[in-house]
Amino acid sequence: MNSSASNSNVVVASAPGKIILTGEHFVVHGSYAVAAAINKRARVTVSASKKQESQIVSEGIASPAFEDDGQFVVVKSVLAGACEEYGRPRRSFQVQIDSEIPQGSGLGSSAAIAVAASAALTSFMGKKLSNDQIWELATRAEKSVHGNPSGIDTRASLSGGIFLFNRKSGAKPIVIRGELQFLVVFSGKTRSTSELISRVGESRNMHPASFKHLAKAASFLSLQAVDALTNGDLQHLGCLMDLSQLSLSWIGVSSNELDDLIENLRTDGVLGAKITGAGGGGSIIALPKANESKSLLKKTSLDYVHAFLTSVPQEGLRWEK
Ligand code: MEV
Repeated sequence: MNSSASNSNVVVASAPGKIILTGEHFVVHGSYAVAAAINKRARVTVSASKKQESQIVSEGIASPAFEDDGQFVVVKSVLAGACEEYGRPRRSFQVQIDSEIPQGSGLGSSAAIAVAASAALTSFMGKKLSNDQIWELATRAEKSVHGNPSGIDTRASLSGGIFLFNRKSGAKPIVIRGELQFLVVFSGKTRSTSELISRVGESRNMHPASFKHLAKAASFLSLQAVDALTNGDLQHLGCLMDLSQLSLSWIGVSSNELDDLIENLRTDGVLGAKITGAGGGGSIIALPKANESKSLLKKTSLDYVHAFLTSVPQEGLRWEK
């Protein structure tokens, strides 16, 4: 483990993606939400380079680190923020991104990259940041990419586990009773979080009174979800996920394909199912009954290549080197 500032030639950090159980979108407008880390991670390696120009590389694509060419915008925003705070790195470097989290899937890929990059880049620059400073740098980068994120995604990537979140009060970890496993299905349709956040903002402006009630309901469902998780009451949790899906449909971030997928999973007997994250495509989560996870995954995988089971890993940011 290396949580300190580094003079080393290579720094590697990784962070998990996330799912949201209740309250997404409404959390941007001040509601409570419940989020959890997942078993898929993004890894960022920063290494000293002999090349004159620093660069960012992923899946065989390279882009100059200090050029605003539309590639790897999250890492470039982290770098810009780090330079603003601490000055430009004195050595040339290469940033390598390796992620198991599909991009644009609603599973927190960019937040996981932002957190791992904030940690690895600043450590490479010889700075020792606290976890809160890493979160701030990563969230600032996310803001420049996603407009007005709440910071819930970067919190899940940084801290891991499962927690209640609110913009004002931050994250409060939830101690769960028993085992928790979710089926996650990426529809294959990528979408832009910032577009969806602003679409919901417009819907709020058009129907302020209704939105206010839904935002209150989102907080209520999230607080109820904390009780359900603490008591190990999965039946209740599933019901809260279903109710949460209703309000997400109402604000227009579900789609016919996601509704069908959710309905099919309910017919298969899951305890609850809903979109997770910004919606408009992206992914859904379902809560299987005890002992039915594997068979459900097998069945769902026939139609969806990006389906997997996740528990709730306690580990967030990991220093790998
Ligand atoms: C995105 O994963 C969750 C949203 O609520 C946006 C945010 O809270 O930053 C849609």
